[in-house]
Amino acid sequence: MCGIIAITTQSKKNVSKMITTGLKRLEYRGYDSVGIATINNGKIHTLKDKGTIEKVDNALNLEQLEGTIGIGHTRWATHGPPNRENAHPHGDCTGEITVVHNGIIENYLKLKQKLRESGHSFISETDTEVLAHLVEEELKHPELAPTVKEAFRRVISQIEGSYAITLIHAKEPETIFLARKDSPLVIGIQDDTKFAASDIPAFLEYTKKVIVLKDGEIATLTPKSVYIEKNGYRVQPKPFIVSWTAESAQKSGYPHFMLKEIHEQPIALRNTLTINSESVHSAVTKILEAERIIILACGTSYHAGLTGYHQFQRILNKKPVYPVIASEYDSYSHLIDNETAIIAVSQSGETLDVMKALSPAKKDGASIIAITNVVDSSIPRLSNIPLYTRAGPEIGVAATKTHTAQVALLARIALQLQHEIGTLDKSEFDSMLQILNEETPSITRKIIQQNEFKAKRLAERISSRKSAYFLARGPNLPIALEGALKIKEISYIHAEAFPAGESKHGPIAIVEPSFPIIMIAPNDATAKKLLNNAEEMKARGGYIISVTEKDHSIIQRSDSAFILPTSPLHLINPISYILPLQMLAYYAAVTRGVDPDKPKNLAKTVTVE
Ligand code: F6R
Repeated sequence: MCGIIAITTQSKKNVSKMITTGLKRLEYRGYDSVGIATINNGKIHTLKDKGTIEKVDNALNLEQLEGTIGIGHTRWATHGPPNRENAHPHGDCTGEITVVHNGIIENYLKLKQKLRESGHSFISETDTEVLAHLVEEELKHPELAPTVKEAFRRVISQIEGSYAITLIHAKEPETIFLARKDSPLVIGIQDDTKFAASDIPAFLEYTKKVIVLKDGEIATLTPKSVYIEKNGYRVQPKPFIVSWTAESAQKSGYPHFMLKEIHEQPIALRNTLTINSESVHSAVTKILEAERIIILACGTSYHAGLTGYHQFQRILNKKPVYPVIASEYDSYSHLIDNETAIIAVSQSGETLDVMKALSPAKKDGASIIAITNVVDSSIPRLSNIPLYTRAGPEIGVAATKTHTAQVALLARIALQLQHEIGTLDKSEFDSMLQILNEETPSITRKIIQQNEFKAKRLAERISSRKSAYFLARGPNLPIALEGALKIKEISYIHAEAFPAGESKHGPIAIVEPSFPIIMIAPNDATAKKLLNNAEEMKARGGYIISVTEKDHSIIQRSDSAFILPTSPLHLINPISYILPLQMLAYYAAVTRGVDPDKPKNLAKTVTVE
């Protein structure tokens, strides 16, 4: 997720200052590098570098750029590490075109190859740069693309993936070209100034009159006009007036970042699952070459890793797989040698406990596969194979979208493993991969929409309780652990998760009437035994909330149930089943008057031991 802003004006002098201020309002969308470009005296002028806006502005003085039209970008790296070359805006070979982009151009490698063959040279490793070169290439054929607008249209028809694009051309020094698919882009309207941005706060101090560009729409802005088209036909936009404050607008109308990030999961998963097959194949090769696998992580990332452990150990048959909490690494260090592959899972890529374990492991010869959300952070840099979840920056302290993205990436590896060891033939693999890639985002969207109200109502009910249990069996245990962690850290209700069979060995002693028991109950091999555990708890007066699917007998034993769609692929279950629990934790915090974005005593990135 990146932040974009573009401005074209007749009346304002210092566009670069307005762009810089707008970028500061968008910094929550990404903050690893920043850049702006303006057109002045018929030429494009660009300033950009790695770092936060404040840092880059202090070093380069972004406001020195003159001109009445410009574009700006704050980056959250997905293709290529954060550095000056990869920072946006990106230009073409002539230096007349410049572009910023949010999203992922899935077919960029193919397009780049073709452009190279036609003589284009590239400066960055980004997918974005192909856009500037594609427009340049189209303009070489005036019989097909007589104008920049036509060239831009033709380029948009060639790209696949998700995008919000703004592009300017030195020869059209008043016009901004825009396109959107699955990435937000809004237009701001003021008399003789027009804005485009990823989010409204970028221009809120100048105008509250807004048009939301829709998927598939292409637009051109000049200081006095807005023209929008879709499939070649003009669209009449419906501007509206926003009543937001800059703060609430940053959260796109959600009261908290945590809720916004819960709702961002379908797109975060879609982006994560666009990972290219070669990277997954390299990770799988390392796993298959190794004698033993360690999955290393902390907290929520450990729970994702534990899900991966359950999947991998079944697939890898007798090859040992150990899930290891990074701060407990010393107890496992004797296992490490050059025949060990470590899968380190870390959202931030900076967690000290993980790094402290990886350094000696690397010295002992282990191969390291990193699963991280922050590109080029310390953990992927320590690794042999960095793999990235593309969930976008997560501002809420409690991990939500990055957790499901980690689980999705591990599921993707699990499928590839089955294919490469021969338990899934090519056609089975292809069809399962298609289900994983296509169904995961849509099931996620459906579950969030259909269960939010129930989560809120149940959260109100349990919010007065001091404690809760989260029970599951076998591969569903990590979901229970994560559900308990979420409610504990966000709402401060004490919660414990354990294998349901353990209840009778102690924990059931404190169950009393109305004690909340959350049961993770897919209709799988664990179903029958879990039902008995539900009976035990019910008999002691426990208030049973099950997360289950239709036709599971646990529904009759439950006081309330989240009934989820039956998953077409068991690998999707750990994603589906955590969603109601994230919402339960969020609403429990809100009901108790606690700020879910800033739980006490916790930091987003833990850089102490
Ligand atoms: C809980 C949470 C933490 C992190 C843990 C590891 O919601 O976010 O438990 O998962 O601190 O952090 P990363 O994934 O950055 O290594």
